[in-house]
Amino acid sequence: MVLMDRKQFLWGGATAAYQCEGAWNEDGKGLGEWDVFSHESPLNINGATGDVSCDFYHRYQEDLDLAAEGGHNTFRFSISWSRILPSGTGEINQGGVDFYNRVIDYCLSKGLEPNVTLFHYDLPDVLARKGGFANREVIDAFVEYAEVCFRAFGDRVKLWVTINEPRYYAYCSNMVGNYPPNHELDFDRYFKVVYNEAVASSRAVALYRSLGLDGKIGIVIDNCNVEIAPGTKDPQGIRLKAELFYDRLMLDTQLRGELPGALIPFLRENGIDDSFVLFEDALSFEQGTSDFLGLNCYNRMYLTDYSEGPTEVFHNNKGAGSKKKEGIRIKDWFETTDDPTTKRNLWGREIYPRCMYNALMGIKERYGDIPVYITENGHGCYEQADESGYVEDDDRIEMMQGYIDNMFEAMKDGCNVRGYYAWSSMDLYSWVNGYEKRYGLVRVDFAEGADLKRIPKKSYYWFKSLIRDYLAGSEHPGHNY
Ligand code: NOJ
Repeated sequence: MVLMDRKQFLWGGATAAYQCEGAWNEDGKGLGEWDVFSHESPLNINGATGDVSCDFYHRYQEDLDLAAEGGHNTFRFSISWSRILPSGTGEINQGGVDFYNRVIDYCLSKGLEPNVTLFHYDLPDVLARKGGFANREVIDAFVEYAEVCFRAFGDRVKLWVTINEPRYYAYCSNMVGNYPPNHELDFDRYFKVVYNEAVASSRAVALYRSLGLDGKIGIVIDNCNVEIAPGTKDPQGIRLKAELFYDRLMLDTQLRGELPGALIPFLRENGIDDSFVLFEDALSFEQGTSDFLGLNCYNRMYLTDYSEGPTEVFHNNKGAGSKKKEGIRIKDWFETTDDPTTKRNLWGREIYPRCMYNALMGIKERYGDIPVYITENGHGCYEQADESGYVEDDDRIEMMQGYIDNMFEAMKDGCNVRGYYAWSSMDLYSWVNGYEKRYGLVRVDFAEGADLKRIPKKSYYWFKSLIRDYLAGSEHPGHNY
């Protein structure tokens, strides 16, 4: 089925620093924007924080043992910038460096290839106060931080990601307003932040290469593949606008080394500030193209013509407590629409396995044979454990199996996919959604007195059997479980 050597394919789970580490103020760590937001903001509507979370900081060995026992050969995690540079730049916190050295070394001792992300939503507070990625100074700070990490860990880490989901981070922080600094429908800031993240990523990639290190480096994007609903009057016009809004800026700069030609005319026509585009960045883009693309694949952008009404974002961080469907209406551009044949999760997001195939084929069509890792895929839901703590998460298994089958189909059709990461390795903090929305292959018991006990779920064993089937040459891994 797949042309590459099956043993080379990476199978693992993914996490992110703020979502699992806890230890928010230990061993010299500085404040991050999420520490401040989760402690102080009335917009933290579920009241949860990452102060302790699943305490990966102290229990990483147990989590990595479970990953290895689950048949994984890789582990994706991110580094907390404020653990390494408490003030965002300048003095290095040795306590932070020591922690990631322990994690990396333990991964390697367990046969888990570390896949390390430098920035996963958690900016040091000092830099957030300066405007975060809306301020170009933060690009220099990011490159400084990247260099510290490359020099400290680059001898052992061979798979690097510059930024996780730069577009979704910018979207939540500047359009939805549910992530700090909570701006709403601010198109100027949204495009500026995505652009500056693109420059930061390209400059970090170029720097990595200049250090002569022998790993691979890329970017992780949230899958934004656009599908136009039947009956739409202006499918081509909508596709162009939507791709510029969602993912072309990031994909073209990181994979082709250039800005999409249509971007500046588009911004100008729509009265959006484009003064952030600097001539000198063209060289950074050219020199900083990614070795691979990481794709976090959950859903598609299902769009139709704009109908009427003001620009509005629809978002649900209340789960079953809200009937809202995730989407957006942008005046005179387009709007998301409902496909009655497609299920949604309780947070109003589509569950659409076919988007895996379509997204991968779309990338192949536009960007050729760039290696792709599925850096995240999974299912968020409420869960009930039995008395022993075991969860029979058949919905998760069914959903992930569907996405993985579509990934295999895309590989058959020539897509250069090199790995798949389940989101998430274990239950963890789900940003504004708190702890009730669970994603883990392993349950973490967050109840008081339960001591954050880890209990593998049914999906953990299914995933293990899928990996085993795959290595044994099966055409339909996972289906016999
Ligand atoms: C994407 C993000 O990278 C991760 O932080 C988040 O928790 C998952 N998707 C689930 O929504």
